[in-house]
Amino acid sequence: MAAIHTVGILGSGIMGAGLAEVAARSGYDVVVRSRSKASAEAMVASIDKGLVKAVERGKATEEERKEILSRISATDHLSGVADCDLIIESVVEDLAVKRALFAELEQIVKPSGILATNTSTLPVVELAMVTDRPDRVCGIHFFNPAPAMKLVEVIRPITASDETIATALEFATACGKDAVEVKDRAGFIVNALLFPYLNNAVRMWEQGTASMESIDTAMKGGCNFPMGPFALLDLVGLDTSVAILDALYDEFRDPNYAAVPTLRRMVAAGRLGRKTKSGFYTY
Ligand SMILES: NC(=O)c1ccc[n+]([C@@H]2O[C@H](COP(=O)([O-])OP(=O)(O)OC[C@H]3O[C@@H](n4cnc5c(N)ncnc54)[C@H](O)[C@@H]3O)[C@@H](O)[C@H]2O)c1
Repeated sequence: MAAIHTVGILGSGIMGAGLAEVAARSGYDVVVRSRSKASAEAMVASIDKGLVKAVERGKATEEERKEILSRISATDHLSGVADCDLIIESVVEDLAVKRALFAELEQIVKPSGILATNTSTLPVVELAMVTDRPDRVCGIHFFNPAPAMKLVEVIRPITASDETIATALEFATACGKDAVEVKDRAGFIVNALLFPYLNNAVRMWEQGTASMESIDTAMKGGCNFPMGPFALLDLVGLDTSVAILDALYDEFRDPNYAAVPTLRRMVAAGRLGRKTKSGFYTY
């Protein structure tokens, strides 16, 4: 198994920030790369804000806060992750963007480095095949919010070596997560089962069966879910949700995966959920 000491995180969105925090809390040195230095630094500042709150609530000490922060550095250069043992790409859910990024990483990252993606649905093998190290490419799929959610899906494309998968499973476990291995199929386990439900909840609302508040209340109280489907869609982000549904539909052609019109219209209107302070609900 490869030893992981330094982790490079690409992307400073919802998931990138969560991944950086999880890895730094677990004792890894973390390099965060964003396209602009300002957003990489803003992400580190937001992690610190969370840590300050944790200290205030007695969940961490001031020394721990300083130690965790000292392990995170920010850069806007891809070369900043060149020496990382493990890279986790967590940029926008767009295959063309991710493929271009993996091709660049292949040129920059040391040959022993493992290149992983946090994609929710896209074919990991397509990222592996733009590199010269397809045996050292896999998926490491964290859930949102990464610091709180216990599960990590480790995705095995048909090109990955046993050593890469073992290293990824070990890394996720060292981050305090429950790691499961899954084949490289759109949606893996969780999103393949979850998104038809979320999509059909919006369809039910479109058909006027019940209000979104009633549907959320029903699924919390009736199924013991911690949040209803509309609150969850807002948390995931509606643009990311449509991208996930499109990838699932492309792979399986199942009508349950065909994004309902409301979702697309809301994305067109820029109502992406919590991250834009407006989605099904207002924040
Ligand atoms: N949101 C979730 O609940 C969730 C959960 C698990 C995994 N994921 C996956 O994590 C990844 C990131 O999702 P997110 O929710 O953090 O998205 P986000 O919209 O919050 O952040 C996307 C990031 O990608 C960057 N980006 C956009 N276009 C880019 C480009 N052309 N080149 C490089 N960077 C670019 C943005 O600057 C931003 O830092 C996606 O693959 C998504 O499927 C998301």
